[in-house]
Amino acid sequence: MAESDNILAVPRHIAIIMDGNGRWAEERYRPRLFGHKAGVDSVREIVETSRTIGIEFLTLYAFSTENWNRPPGEVTGLMGLLKRYLQSELKTMLKNDIRLCCVGQQNRLPTDVQAVLHQTISETQSCQSMTLNLALSYGGRSELVQAVRHLAQKCQDGVLQWQEISELSISEHLFTAGQPDPDLLIRTGGEHRLSNFLLWQTSYTELYFTEVKWPDFRKDQLIEAINIYNRRQRRFGKIGAQLQAE
Ligand code: IPE
Ligand code: IPE
Ligand code: MG
Repeated sequence: MAESDNILAVPRHIAIIMDGNGRWAEERYRPRLFGHKAGVDSVREIVETSRTIGIEFLTLYAFSTENWNRPPGEVTGLMGLLKRYLQSELKTMLKNDIRLCCVGQQNRLPTDVQAVLHQTISETQSCQSMTLNLALSYGGRSELVQAVRHLAQKCQDGVLQWQEISELSISEHLFTAGQPDPDLLIRTGGEHRLSNFLLWQTSYTELYFTEVKWPDFRKDQLIEAINIYNRRQRRFGKIGAQLQAE
């Protein structure tokens, strides 16, 4: 029986820290960009599988605010891959009814990448079967700073009372406004940290870490992660007996 036949239920929202491309390439005595290129094939397979099995929101951490500190050649290579990925995927996204969104500081991206990104976002905006969030120049702390500034500005302008600031209003000022929090966060590549990803949104997310490096993370590995997620009990602070009674 294929792994995919075992799925009980799928999480609504999966977020993935796609890590390990560089080490995957280095193991093969190849330049790091070779690993990033192989990583794009994993992105394609994971997007397609997620859509097929009925994931509603998929958020992929592709480039962090800290990643700007990498060697310039690697940053340029990653931006080129991103542009080519967006150009090559538009047709498939439309065919598969996938809406593209960007979470992150779009204005820090090179202008040619911004142009393709804006075009893809606008052409797919009415697609409904799945939302693909690409986290680009994304940092959880800077996202929160931006949200706090917006709220403070609204208070200063008199359109919001400080007492009205709530968990909901903070969520509504994040890049993920209107979307459910991730149910499952996957990090590939063997590290056990969040690296500034979705700090607010993952307060009750199930975490799954795997040694598998991103270029080797494909359909079977995704299904395995979902199956492990399905065997967990999400108690949200309650006790197990309460959940059984619900
Ligand atoms: C993740 O792989 C991709 C990006 C951060 C863009 P890495 O490039 O971090 O790969 P490792 O962690 O060095 O192996
Ligand atoms: C996290 O990976 C960012 C992305 C996957 C885009 P990093 O490789 O940049 O994370 P650190 O530096 O090991 O924490
Ligand atoms: Mg890494």
